[in-house]
Amino acid sequence: MLLDTFGRVATDLRVSLTDRCNLRCSYCMPPEGLDWLPSPDLLTDDEVVRVVAVAVGLGVTEVRFTGGEPLLRRGLVDIVARVAALRPRPRLSLTTNGIGLARVAPDLRAAGLDRVNVSLDTLQRERFVTLTHRDRLSEVIDGLAAADATGLRPVKVNAVLLRGVNDAEAADLLRWCLDRGYELRFIEQMPLDPQHTWDRAEMVTAEEILTLLRADFDLSPEDGATRGSAPAETWLVDGGPGRVGVIGSVTRPFCAACDRVRLTADGQVRNCLFAREETDLREVLRSGGSDEQVAEILRGTVWAKKAGHGIDDPSFRQPVRPMSAIGG
Ligand code: 5AD
Ligand code: SF4
Repeated sequence: MLLDTFGRVATDLRVSLTDRCNLRCSYCMPPEGLDWLPSPDLLTDDEVVRVVAVAVGLGVTEVRFTGGEPLLRRGLVDIVARVAALRPRPRLSLTTNGIGLARVAPDLRAAGLDRVNVSLDTLQRERFVTLTHRDRLSEVIDGLAAADATGLRPVKVNAVLLRGVNDAEAADLLRWCLDRGYELRFIEQMPLDPQHTWDRAEMVTAEEILTLLRADFDLSPEDGATRGSAPAETWLVDGGPGRVGVIGSVTRPFCAACDRVRLTADGQVRNCLFAREETDLREVLRSGGSDEQVAEILRGTVWAKKAGHGIDDPSFRQPVRPMSAIGG
């Protein structure tokens, strides 16, 4: 088992497959992009599958592929198929910006992918361009429709609200998702941007998001005390069955129930999004390390996991790497 000193068990492995992206969401990447990882540093498909296999042997039951934008990873469908063939078979999901999803959704489904989370912060074309520096909203919308049509359900949509940019669109986003049977979750903006411009006072909080939504919808708490390890608190909208989630990563941290561990595209193991340390697994893989040595690194890294992200602690410092290099 992947256990830490607070008794938490890591069962959810987030695997970043690339740090690159074809969008430039303002809170995630500067318009000119970042210094991408050199290709030789990226784990190969074989290395990724090997680490996941060891992790599954240590009790991981959920594998989420992320990026950057994981659809940019050439071997993605094959990696999904190979991970889906592991026993016990983990549940498999993908966090994507949706661009290109329309084309590969059937292949991903056939390979064994169970679900997708698609990031979408606005439904207005011009605002999408402002937010992402790319005129590609229609491709995201097509990607969502294709995911749904292919059965990658429930289709979940992630939205980050930025004050004065898209916060007034919260209710529209929800109505649009409800109409299509997509599950929308709003995520509080976290201090993970490379520009280090995150400002707590500027962040649209979970509380504010709920207030915005309540102007248009009746929300009743769905899960009360049974949030479990799920970061989203969910509400039934207008009596259900539609629902909405709010992920208050900053103001309502779920660290005490966190069941995640992360593998970066360049083969570093992280026990937290906000960790300031990571453990190099790539070197172990490339110097002929055994599966037991890989397992030892995974166990040791999870064991060292801190109680919480400590964003509110005066000594908090952002991790060196931005979200796109860590994996969402
Ligand atoms: N805070 C919160 N969410 C973020 N995302 C990217 N950067 C941040 C941040 N700083 C979101 C994306 C995507 C998911 C992978 O994480 O919008 O939905
Ligand atoms: Fe790309 Fe996601 Fe970052 Fe947007 S938030 S730039 S879609 S990695």
